Amino acid sequence: MLTGKFRDFLSWHIYQIYPRSFLDTNGDGIGDLRGVTAKLDYLKELGINAIWLCPCYKSPNEDNGYDVEDYRDIMDEFGTMDDIRELIDQMHKRGMKIIMDLVPNHTSSRHKWFQESRKSKDNPYSDYYYWFDAPPNDWQSMFGGSAYQFDEGRGQYYLHTYAVGQPDLNWENPAVVKEMQAVVDFWVDMGVDGFRVDVIDQISKDFNGANCFGPRLHEFIHALFGRDKTKHLFTVGECWADNIEEVRRHAAPERDELSTLFQFDHQDIGRADKFTYVPTGMQELWNRLCAWQERMQENGLLYSLFTDNHDNGWLISRIGNDKQLRYETATCVAAMVYLLRGACFIYQGQEFGMTNSCHDSIEEFDDVESKNMYAELIKTMTPEQAIAKINFGGRDNTRRPMCWNGGEGCGFTTAKPWMPFHTLADKINLERDQAAEKSVWRFYRDLLALRCATPALTVGSFAKADLGEGCCAFVREAEGSKVFVVCNFEQENQIRLPESCGKLLLSNYGHKEKKTGCFQPFEIAVFELN
Ligand code: GLC
Ligand code: CA
Repeated sequence: MLTGKFRDFLSWHIYQIYPRSFLDTNGDGIGDLRGVTAKLDYLKELGINAIWLCPCYKSPNEDNGYDVEDYRDIMDEFGTMDDIRELIDQMHKRGMKIIMDLVPNHTSSRHKWFQESRKSKDNPYSDYYYWFDAPPNDWQSMFGGSAYQFDEGRGQYYLHTYAVGQPDLNWENPAVVKEMQAVVDFWVDMGVDGFRVDVIDQISKDFNGANCFGPRLHEFIHALFGRDKTKHLFTVGECWADNIEEVRRHAAPERDELSTLFQFDHQDIGRADKFTYVPTGMQELWNRLCAWQERMQENGLLYSLFTDNHDNGWLISRIGNDKQLRYETATCVAAMVYLLRGACFIYQGQEFGMTNSCHDSIEEFDDVESKNMYAELIKTMTPEQAIAKINFGGRDNTRRPMCWNGGEGCGFTTAKPWMPFHTLADKINLERDQAAEKSVWRFYRDLLALRCATPALTVGSFAKADLGEGCCAFVREAEGSKVFVVCNFEQENQIRLPESCGKLLLSNYGHKEKKTGCFQPFEIAVFELN
């Protein structure tokens, strides 16, 4: 059973903001912190009570802020330290929590530490990074090519798990651990409520093994978040490696490491690799979600519920039908994910059913991963084939500026946006969705409100139920109240409901009541159970 702070986190509805693409308030085409503050009431109305802000620190933006030049300053385009203070203040006034993105695995090559480190082998920063006379293994960078880069200044190679401009920090050096503790403390003193921790599984290395879950990982995470000053924080670690035992250990409350982790098993649906589509049914999504839900619950751990983030194409474009049945797919997935037990994360644009964008040329992309990938792909295929893959899997799908409305500038900016809008901006935008008869946004609002009002849906236990093929069903139960959720994965489907199904609490087909019989495509129904 979850106790204490972890139990409270079950009712956190966290909205992930990619600041560059959220709202531009000063007409330079780039989203900014004031834009976030301006939309807090909008988020509250949706039922959001926390935000996770993607990196907004000073950065040359080789990897859009995940290359940090100064952990204690704000990126010029995003605003000033006063703007972030104002944002934190305005959030707390509304009873909302703020989670910052912490990037402890690497810095920008422009960071002072690296600038010093590359100068010589015997300066105070020389061991802040990993330096080698020759690459010690054949690790590849996540963005393509070798993970080792020769540096003229120092006459040695350094490790960069990501872009060339993102050298990996050497956590074996106690000074690095201290520096990162000080960064955490700086933001805790600023009043933030937690951290999303970037690629946390990679900060301890085993150069003879895989580049994750190194031998000192627990110790390093504990050093960050197991201290009196940090124990109370909400922390979610990004963990790409799929290893349930490691995840369970890191999320165990008594270890004071992380509150929860992002696990990507269910997000890896509908694709053979990141850029290659394979048709997959909702059943597979459910199987994966359900397996993780059960494994985390078994050990009394906090699970994190999400469908999208800034690192993938949209989930509803890999599953279901994002064309004719976009509303139905989006709402069915929402019910399947956010009525489970865990902390909820919703990515900007998801609340009105955003889908993948479709561009003709690589010029319309910004992301380093996509550009490197495209350069590789055209060696073996036509530009049309390569761009189709980028359109499918590229991270820019979820990074394009928000479509608040369908007008020029999409309500995002009065200038030229920093990156082209979605090609579907005139059809899929907040204003249009809110005015529609079938509104994804209203469904999300109603779902989050129901979650808030129903202890069974937040702190309640989870149990799978079986209603036969082509659908999923589960029961959530707390303090004597029970809720029953049914989601139909198919076209029309005859579903036999239990006798005990009582009042209908939520429907994505606008029903007021629902009996055994036909369920429409991707129809969901949530009942009180007698
Ligand atoms: C994480 C981030 C991603 C970034 C990478 C390197 O996976 O989510 O956007 O490129 O780490 O920091
Ligand atoms: Ca701006």
